[in-house]
Amino acid sequence: MVKVGIVGASGYVGGELLRILLGHPEAEIVSVTSRQHVGEYVFKVHPNLKGMTSLQFTAEDPLTVASKVDVIFLAVPHGVSCKITPKLAETGVKIVDMSADFRLKDAAEYQKWYGWSHPAPDLLEKFVYGLPELHREELKNTSLVAVPGCMATAAIVSLAPLAKAGLLDGPIFVDAKIGSSGAGGKPSLSTHFSERFGVVRVYKPVGHRHTGEIEQELKYVSGKKFKVGMTAHAVNMVRGILTTSHAIVSSKPEASKIWKAYRSMYTSEPFVRFIMDKKGLYKYPDPKITIGSNFADVGFEVDPYVERVVVFGAIDNLIKGAAGNAVQSMNIMLKFDEREGLNFPALHPV
Ligand SMILES: NC(=O)c1ccc[n+]([C@@H]2O[C@H](COP(=O)([O-])OP(=O)(O)OC[C@H]3O[C@@H](n4cnc5c(N)ncnc54)[C@H](OP(=O)(O)O)[C@@H]3O)[C@@H](O)[C@H]2O)c1
Repeated sequence: MVKVGIVGASGYVGGELLRILLGHPEAEIVSVTSRQHVGEYVFKVHPNLKGMTSLQFTAEDPLTVASKVDVIFLAVPHGVSCKITPKLAETGVKIVDMSADFRLKDAAEYQKWYGWSHPAPDLLEKFVYGLPELHREELKNTSLVAVPGCMATAAIVSLAPLAKAGLLDGPIFVDAKIGSSGAGGKPSLSTHFSERFGVVRVYKPVGHRHTGEIEQELKYVSGKKFKVGMTAHAVNMVRGILTTSHAIVSSKPEASKIWKAYRSMYTSEPFVRFIMDKKGLYKYPDPKITIGSNFADVGFEVDPYVERVVVFGAIDNLIKGAAGNAVQSMNIMLKFDEREGLNFPALHPV
């Protein structure tokens, strides 16, 4: 059994890590931390876990957690992880960071997208971007994983095959819609029920911080620099993300070439599904049928009128967009079956 600890286990991502890891046949959770819930049973904060665990939150500092475990998950806000990680990395513990702090390779990108100087720039190159569909081989040989951003995951997984196949010219415009759990469990005015319920609210029309990750990974997969413009909306869901990306192409888009690009990259992927049907309700990716699962659903449509390809990516932000992807990356890092702990379908109806 591999021993794991979760720092920031009382948050939404921490809760999903707990749910998944409690069902993982190779993992034993030995430490879960929270500053606000010290001594409380985990199920008091995550009521869905009642009857599943008698774990209690501790106030252990991350180095103490690291001394007891093989893998430490950091499910803390961005800007917190990069202060903890340098000392943790010295211990040799395997780190899976859910925050944005080690996703970007170039320290200057943190100034550009986050507005701060990175305190540990030397570690950036050592982290592997934890998207198995693009970085499986590197994940096998690392002990440091930076789990991608949730909206970035939906956009990258849906766009990467086209970029790789040379079918995109750019710029690419990503329209993202996300449910309320994307903002985490800490309440604010914008997540207050009266203000959040029923919205289709533009909350980041330009300059969303996940843009840097999307550009980085599309360049990684294609060797070509794409400019990405992203607009994010808060919509009336608790979970789920849909990214609709508009990519201008210089020649008439051909559906058969796009199909081929998806097939050649994803045929063997355990958690990517093509959704493109002529009939039925779910003709295109829809987050509703990913909820609770680690699947990323991808699909597209061509628009010859304006020589545009419209690409769709749908995920559960807390699973393929966070905790599920993290466990999938851990499985690869530890040479477990990639599906271990994740082999469950989405909920329907939900
Ligand atoms: N929500 C999503 O859809 C999503 C998707 C992908 C990635 N992420 C990333 O995953 C991380 C966790 O997100 P979340 O949605 O779970 O947030 P959250 O619900 O707000 O949880 C944050 C957790 O971190 C702890 N924490 C907060 N400040 C801390 C500090 N200064 N030192 C130590 N612990 C601290 C909190 O517990 P205490 O206050 O009790 O200590 C809590 O357990 C973030 O970096 C987020 O950007 C989130």
